[in-house]
Amino acid sequence: MKTILFSLAAFGTAIAATSAAEAAGGATREYKHNHWHFDGPFGAYDKEAVQRGFQVYRTVCASCHAVEQLSFRNFGEKGGPFHLDECPAGVPETTNCSNPSENPVVKALAAEYEITDGPDDSGDMFKRPGLPSDKIPGPYANQQQARAANGGAYPPNLALIIKARHHGPDYIYSLLTGYEDAPISVQLGPTQHYNPYFAGDMSQLLKPEYRDEEGHPLEGVKVPEGGVLAMKAPLADGIVDYADDHVPETVDQYAKDVVEFLTWASEPKMEQRKSLGVVTMGYLLILTLILFFSYRAIWANTEH
Ligand code: HEC
Repeated sequence: MKTILFSLAAFGTAIAATSAAEAAGGATREYKHNHWHFDGPFGAYDKEAVQRGFQVYRTVCASCHAVEQLSFRNFGEKGGPFHLDECPAGVPETTNCSNPSENPVVKALAAEYEITDGPDDSGDMFKRPGLPSDKIPGPYANQQQARAANGGAYPPNLALIIKARHHGPDYIYSLLTGYEDAPISVQLGPTQHYNPYFAGDMSQLLKPEYRDEEGHPLEGVKVPEGGVLAMKAPLADGIVDYADDHVPETVDQYAKDVVEFLTWASEPKMEQRKSLGVVTMGYLLILTLILFFSYRAIWANTEH
């Protein structure tokens, strides 16, 4: 009993310590909340938003960030942005367009990329157009090259970033739309960009006149929320041309769409998972009813 109480007490202290640490530095502004199509037990992706988000990723983010492990064929799978139930007109009848490897949109997309393959018979690597089964190639050959090109900072793989951050969709939407001029009390380095939604410790960047001799913030000086990151604001109004004229070409819309794409990339099979859940609940409900009525039938003639 004592041990249990002791471990409970230790657990409580640990939790208190963590929240104190969170409060001391790294306080960020509360994330903006968006209504996402994919939220909730019946949530599904908005296919058009995923397609636009991929366009934003490809036009803007892909020069620095990979979406590792995502293959072209994923785009044509059930729930994917380019999935087809039926072939478009003009495609030979023998084609099965619901199969991602035969899907003409996916094939055309893959073929726009150049893939390094090999070695060939003489031991050399060679380039060829992409196939649906290929992984989407990233911008850099390895981490060192990625860091060297970004002043030492590493642009993370975006395929799982939604899952890797708390409140992933709201956080990344807030981060992308949340860049601001740095508050006047801080001095930023040339590769630092201020964002109130990025976790960091701004007390380190306060100008000397806001600090005492030991470097602590002076009485009454408020340490700004948020932090600095090596990525400058990647989006600007009008930089991506949408085919649909009704969709605004704004930072806000781009950010929503790219989050929709990244959420799909982090879980391409979400819709299948959710519909399996609904079917399972229905099955259990029917089973419960059958059991209840057979119980009534079996005991119907027994006195109680
Ligand atoms: C010019 C290169 C460049 C471009 C373009 C770029 N990024 Fe980044 N990104 C970076 C670097 C470098 C980092 C690492 C920043 C750091 O850790 O200080 C980063 C970090 C991130 C992070 C991680 C934030 C965190 O919580 O750690 C996300 C999310 C992100 N980028 C999303 C995007 C999206 C979405 C786009 C396209 C709209 C994009 N980036 C375009 C270079 C870039």
